[in-house]
Formats: sequence, C-alpha cells, structure tokens
Amino acid sequence: MLNSNLTIGFIGAGNMATALIEGLIRTGVAPSRLYASHRRNEPLLSLASQGVHTTTDNTAVAAACDIVVLAVKPQVLGEVLPALREVLGARPRLLISIAAGVQLHTLQEWSGPAQAIVRCMPNTPALVQAGASGLYANAAVSAEQKQQATAIMAAVGLVCWLEQERQLDAVTALSGSGPAYFFLMMEAMEAAGTALGLSAAVARRLCLQTAFGAAKLALESNLEPSELRHRVTSPGGTTAAALQTFEQGGYRELVARALSAAAARAAELAAAAK
Ligand SMILES: NC(=O)c1ccc[n+]([C@@H]2O[C@H](COP(=O)([O-])OP(=O)(O)OC[C@H]3O[C@@H](n4cnc5c(N)ncnc54)[C@H](OP(=O)(O)O)[C@@H]3O)[C@@H](O)[C@H]2O)c1
Repeated sequence: MLNSNLTIGFIGAGNMATALIEGLIRTGVAPSRLYASHRRNEPLLSLASQGVHTTTDNTAVAAACDIVVLAVKPQVLGEVLPALREVLGARPRLLISIAAGVQLHTLQEWSGPAQAIVRCMPNTPALVQAGASGLYANAAVSAEQKQQATAIMAAVGLVCWLEQERQLDAVTALSGSGPAYFFLMMEAMEAAGTALGLSAAVARRLCLQTAFGAAKLALESNLEPSELRHRVTSPGGTTAAALQTFEQGGYRELVARALSAAAARAAELAAAAK
C-alpha cells in the first residue's frame, strides 16, 4: 500500500491523470500529497479546488514528488521527459509511464540510466474506475515500488503485472484497445435489435445492460465463460441458433485476426516511437 508520506506527481493533467488523481483521493490519499502539472492553467482548476498542488511547471512536480506519473501523449513525451532529467537525477524516485508505445530503453535514455521505471498500459474504463492495466517494471524497480505502482493503478481498476516488456503489445491489443471491440459489438447488436422491431432507445438500454450483466456475471462467477455460455444455450434453442451463426461466420478466427493486427500495430508504433 501507499506509505502515507509519499508524494505523487502527475505530468500532463489530462483524462487519465485526472481519473487517477480522483481515484487516489477516493481511496483515501490526502490531496495534499498529490501534485499535477499541465501546460495550461485552466485544466488544473478543478484539481486545485480539491486540494491538489497544481502548477504549469513540470519540473516543480518532478522535484516535489517521490513517484512521478508521466501522463502526457507519447508524441510530446520526447520533449517533456528530457527536460526533467536533471531534477529526476537529484534523488531516487519511481517513474510510472502510461504513454502508449514508449519503450523502457527510450524512457531510460530520456530520464537517466539509473531510473526506476514502470511502464503501464491502462484503458479508458479507468475514467469510471473500471479500468484494466498491464504493468512492466525495469530492473531498478524495488518490490516496494512495485506495490506503490500497483496501489496507484488499482485506484482506477484491475492491475496485472507482466513478465516481459513485449507483452505490453498484447495488453494493448487485448485490454488497451478492447473497449472499442465491445463498443462495436454493442453498435451491431443495437442495430440488429432495431431491425428486429425494437425502438433504438429500448435496443440500446437492453444491449448495454446485457453487456454489463454478462461481464458482472463472468467476473463474479467461478465458472469459465465457456461454461456460462453452455448453461444459457439449450440444444435447439434461440441462443444456440445465434451462436451457431457466429461460429459458422468464423467469429473466433476474426477476433484472433483483429487482436493480432492490433498487437502488430502496437509493436510497429513502439518501434517508431523514438
Ligand atoms: N486514454 C486511454 O485510453 C489511454 C490508454 C492507454 C494509454 N494512454 C496514455 O495515457 C497518456 C494520457 O492519455 P490521456 O487520454 O489522458 O490524454 P490527454 O487527455 O490528452 O492528457 C494529456 C495532457 O497533457 C497535456 N500536455 C501536453 N503537453 C504538455 C506539456 N508539455 N506539459 C504538461 N502537460 C502537457 C495535454 O494538454 P493539451 O490538451 O493542451 O494538449 C493534455 O491535457 C497518453 O500517453 C496515452 O498514450 C491512454
């Protein structure tokens, strides 16, 4: 858990940083231990009103904090992080980068060779405290710092540690991009429900609640998703008719191809990110 003296700073107070800060406050972290910087003052006002230290000076946040979360877009991190190198080198601290595709060796080159760095791939449901994050640490990260990174990311959802950095490409393909796959399924089901005679509003409400209910049931059950599926599929029934159509259309292969394409693209972007 987070030692109550640790200070935590966020560079780039956008959507993800704000979700993390609000999640941490919700879990009981005192706002006075939290720092956030942004290149403009306006996005900081709401955080300041909650008691978070805010500034337009990234260096001030890096200097003040034991843990620094890099939450700017990947394309600006190459300017932002080297500018913090000197202050980061002044004393040991933990860096957590949520910038998609920026690899550890690049983060290390920009921030200094001895930095303890955790790379993290979150997803957008973090904005409603239902995120899923994959984390990978470099060799300089201690067991205690791993716990600290876990506590920070757990403020907005599930945390999974990885054994290899390249598994972050698979995490990107599965949970990073994953919400969009379910949104596509929702769009398609809503359209199909409307075509079958429901109003768009009723089709949407039923579809969203079904997606939520299926995920909640799968999360809370100790049965495999395949067993849950079997239990709602009577031979010759309505669910069987639909599932047979999915299988005949190559649904599983299509999903496998889609995730492979996303993972390959994540690897390409990571290689080009420097
Ligand atoms: N959202 C996701 O689902 C998701 C998933 C995985 C990873 N990530 C990663 O999380 C990071 C943040 O994503 P986000 O969705 O929170 O993006 P975001 O809302 O755009 O937040 C980044 C913020 O950084 C600010 N900024 C830009 N340059 C800056 C500078 N020099 N100093 C300080 N602040 C600066 C931006 O300001 P302006 O608005 O003025 O440009 C923006 O408000 C990204 O690296 C992204 O790859 C996001």
